Amino acid sequence: MNLSKTIEEIRTEFPILSIKVYGKPLIYLDNGATTQKPEQVIRVMEELYRTSNANVHRGVHRLSDMVSDRYEAARETVRAFINAPKREEIIFTAGTTASINAVAFSFGERFVGEGDEIVISGMEHHANIVPWQMLCERKKAKLKVIPFTDEGVLDLEAYRGMLTERTRIVAVTHVSNVLGTVNPVKEIVAEAHSHGIPVLVDGAQGIQHGIVDVSEIGCDFYVFSGHKVYGPNGIGVLYGKENLLNEIPPYQGGGDMVANVTFEKTTYNELPFKFEAGTTNFTGAIGMAAALDYLSSLGREAVAEREQTLLARATSGMSAIEGLRIYGTAPHKVSVISFLPGAIHPYDAGMILDKMGIAVRTGTHCAQPVMERYGITGTIRASIAFYNTEEEIDAVLRGIGRVTEMFA
Ligand code: ALA
Repeated sequence: MNLSKTIEEIRTEFPILSIKVYGKPLIYLDNGATTQKPEQVIRVMEELYRTSNANVHRGVHRLSDMVSDRYEAARETVRAFINAPKREEIIFTAGTTASINAVAFSFGERFVGEGDEIVISGMEHHANIVPWQMLCERKKAKLKVIPFTDEGVLDLEAYRGMLTERTRIVAVTHVSNVLGTVNPVKEIVAEAHSHGIPVLVDGAQGIQHGIVDVSEIGCDFYVFSGHKVYGPNGIGVLYGKENLLNEIPPYQGGGDMVANVTFEKTTYNELPFKFEAGTTNFTGAIGMAAALDYLSSLGREAVAEREQTLLARATSGMSAIEGLRIYGTAPHKVSVISFLPGAIHPYDAGMILDKMGIAVRTGTHCAQPVMERYGITGTIRASIAFYNTEEEIDAVLRGIGRVTEMFA
């Protein structure tokens, strides 16, 4: 399957990819932290501010109408992109973390009580740990954690054994931001549903690398951020099944989430507005929709295939470097490689790579329990996007070789 454009064409559409750092061409391999933006997204947002800026859903005037229409069109773009049944099920939030906090609070208020249990996995990002811990603390509930193997594969046997009549929700990541593992979320959901337990899937890393079909996965909530999928930051999505969203209380009050306000009683707006308090990031929503359209026009399967080719090249090159260990070798993984070149501290290696123009992430990647699982303090992470090139991967491999020589 081919991308609809050549890699050279694609790279010219991402202005930042042609800059130099320290006089060297930028090699950007920190796409797990945030992705770069194509002209299409930058242009849409600039054009909005230049020609159509007004508050969304707040005015009868022409500009407000125009922005409101584009905001709702963006909602439809998101709905179609993840194959959600209804537009009412797409809530715009500030990002993945905001979406998870909203569910942990609202679902928790309605359904979680003392002695209840929440199941998460051992490979979660802090954003899918801490809100549940806060809920457990508030409600005196218990957090249970699905373990994973050395390869980075969830222990599904252990997971099945964890579900009890006290389990109120399961929250797992689609793709590990450290290990790259693609979790079998469809299976995880089916198992939970056989016990009548809803599932939230953290799609922060999943959305970028493949086709996400929430109807196929069957999950009750799916959350992601715009900036991880070539869109702007400060915008994200909470997909939730309509019946559940109707059952849980709003997370924040004010703005568009009200139907009627008196000092005696406030009634809430219908979905999706019930969860969109205040002036939402409408510019971001419209920019994110432009990014999703861009990805769709390239061919989402082709994007995933190209990333797999680059992953295979990087993995085989790294495996040939003596003393280098890759963390996360699951059979089904995305183009994220965490590694340690021997005993070299990841920060030292990351700083030397930086001077070569290579941007990688170093540290715990907001997933300290994963580090603890392996008994390490951090890793270097190269996270690859479709716009990276074979030459860039080879340059990184040479760079790592250089680092190991320097510390030998
Ligand atoms: N969650 C982001 C990452 O994995 C920041 O780098």
